[in-house]
Amino acid sequence: MSNNIEGKVIVITGASSGLGEAAARHLSSEGATVVLGARRGDRIRALAEELIARRAKALAVATDVTNFDQVKRLVDAAVQAFERVDVMINNAGLMPQSPLDRLKVEDWNRTIDVNIKGVLYGIGAVLPYMEKQRAGHIINVSSVAGHKVRAGGAVYAATKHAVRVISEGLREEVKPYDIRTTVISPGAVDTELTDSITEPDISANTKRFYAQVAVPADSFARAVAFAISQPVEIDINEILYRPTRQEY
Ligand SMILES: NC(=O)c1ccc[n+]([C@@H]2O[C@H](COP(=O)([O-])OP(=O)(O)OC[C@H]3O[C@@H](n4cnc5c(N)ncnc54)[C@H](OP(=O)(O)O)[C@@H]3O)[C@@H](O)[C@H]2O)c1
Repeated sequence: MSNNIEGKVIVITGASSGLGEAAARHLSSEGATVVLGARRGDRIRALAEELIARRAKALAVATDVTNFDQVKRLVDAAVQAFERVDVMINNAGLMPQSPLDRLKVEDWNRTIDVNIKGVLYGIGAVLPYMEKQRAGHIINVSSVAGHKVRAGGAVYAATKHAVRVISEGLREEVKPYDIRTTVISPGAVDTELTDSITEPDISANTKRFYAQVAVPADSFARAVAFAISQPVEIDINEILYRPTRQEY
């Protein structure tokens, strides 16, 4: 019986570590063709080679999601190699944290560029193909911070709220094309994300919190697989999950 994943061409941004890498491994093991994007080309190339050695289909394209032409090149490469794009997972992201009065303007700019513009560019790169196919699935990664905001997390939470707003607008717009849209909002997951916190005191506190509660990245991979594996007439619009021990 088909799992509704086998044979699908799935593009994943931020596939060089954490959630994106875990999703790539899991979806590949379920028979998907995965097309991996991230800036660290060495990492995604090694992952693609590993998956191909297991007889899966995979392709790596070094991509900076803050550059629309590069995101378009990633999606174009997927279609050139595999003739279609079934799923786009806009996952690349950063989580710098700091009170606004520390004026970490560089952090604000990078967070907005990657977490909001990167998602928009991913949507923009796949929509022409998916509208033509009259089929497809766009999965955007938000966060618990897309539902809640705490001191020190204003900019990150703003970007993750934006991902949910963009996803809902997208959902309404793509109805005529039978394109599905899913937002996945994880709580604390054990990845490299806390390395993107540039303030040493906040980084240390956040790493301590993650060490206590964070769950493995395959939790995300299973959530993605659940959404993709539904029958085509069922659109899982939103998944919010946390470690059982996480209060926030
Ligand atoms: N871990 C959590 O607790 C958690 C919770 C909620 C939501 N999330 C979200 O999950 C997503 C993935 O994060 P993660 O936890 O897996 O962290 P991670 O291990 O640090 O992975 C982040 C990924 O994003 C990529 N990336 C960063 N900037 C990029 C850019 N300019 N262009 C292309 N790729 C870029 C990184 O690749 P390169 O550095 O190689 O480019 C990496 O593959 C993020 O959107 C994050 O906000 C995570």
